Amino acid sequence: IANKKLLVLPGDGIGPEVMHEVRRVIDWMEQRRLVRFEIGEGLVGGAAIDAEGVPCPDRTLEAAREADAVLFGSVGGPKWDKLPFEQRPELGILRLRKELGLFANLRPAIVLDPLVDASSLKPDVVRGLDIMIVRESTGGIYFGEPRGIHTDANGKRIGIDTEVYSEDEIARAARVAFDLARKRRNKVTSTEKANVMQSGRLWRAVVSEVHKAEFPDVELEHMYADNAAMQLCSRPKQFDVILASNLFGDVLSDLAAALTGSLGMLPSATLGAVQPDGRRHALYEPIHGSAPDIAGKGIANPSAQILSFAMLLRWSFGMEEQARMVEQAVERVLAGGMRTADIMQPGMARISCSVMGESVVRELNKIAG
Ligand code: NAD
Ligand code: IPM
Ligand code: MN
Repeated sequence: IANKKLLVLPGDGIGPEVMHEVRRVIDWMEQRRLVRFEIGEGLVGGAAIDAEGVPCPDRTLEAAREADAVLFGSVGGPKWDKLPFEQRPELGILRLRKELGLFANLRPAIVLDPLVDASSLKPDVVRGLDIMIVRESTGGIYFGEPRGIHTDANGKRIGIDTEVYSEDEIARAARVAFDLARKRRNKVTSTEKANVMQSGRLWRAVVSEVHKAEFPDVELEHMYADNAAMQLCSRPKQFDVILASNLFGDVLSDLAAALTGSLGMLPSATLGAVQPDGRRHALYEPIHGSAPDIAGKGIANPSAQILSFAMLLRWSFGMEEQARMVEQAVERVLAGGMRTADIMQPGMARISCSVMGESVVRELNKIAG
């Protein structure tokens, strides 16, 4: 098996803690000779600010550009909250997404059987839930100009952000959603607020055009984003693929996480366009943040990070079988009644972050025989 170049960026807070558990899984795979990785580690977020003064050093960006895949932890924390806006740790992930052209953030929300009761919703409403949120991730209000805090004519401060979407940005995100739907249950729900936003009007029009011209076989539904949030909480199983802007996708995916039991469960893949040489930049990140409230306590749930690694195996390395093994191992640990604090239920055994990691490897051993 050829060496795959993997860049690991643990970041801040619980990032390094959950990444440590992924390393166990990688070590196991290497011992089993399932894959050989050439692993590099880099600085991002607050860790990079402390060491080098910037949230995403050029060296990190270049290493990410050269890697076959990037595994990203999480960034941010109270220690850096007082820094000027343009120096915040969060800019680390935003720069990586933007400069590598990672425009499609795939956020699956799957309710695993053992976690049906950990959901905030009634078991019947969420059992078997399997949705995929395609969040546009290099455009919209995250990057639009003008932005900033300015002073108006009366000397009062005004905060400005601008939602800008070009038709090409909308179309390429839509294509990812339609493509995915074809491999799933063939339905896309495109969300926006075409009733109040100009960018939303264009979003709806472009998604319809792409649908008509290239994906007429896929069912397309348009839904206002506020209604989509409500529907996610009341009848989530109506959805297959949800297409959303950068901001709406961010919010809807945290909401979807609550349905699955915990933010600590949800992975994501952030993909760029396929290049002429067949390569595709890709970064894998849990949807949760650095969780300052539990960082350093050893109680974080490493599942989202481990499952992000599974997505990496599937999407960047074409290792479907190994990806499934990892996913199965996580599910089996949960089925065995072991729970990190965030998904703790009565009658279950409470385990730490590292015991969760060890248990996943134990299950991998059983699965592999
Ligand atoms: P958060 O996702 O870090 O935490 C929200 C809540 O979920 C907290 O109560 C936390 O304890 C819990 N939680 C999150 N992940 C968990 C896990 N794996 N196991 C158990 N519990 C978990 O969001 P926040 O508190 O709003 O933000 C904290 C910091 O993280 C901020 O600086 C924010 O900007 C940053 N952030 C970074 C990313 C990223 O790096 N991709 C994503 C979101 C937030
Ligand atoms: C996420 C996070 C990031 C985002 C922040 C940390 C920039 O919330 O990945 O969901 O808003 O995209
Ligand atoms: Mn978020």
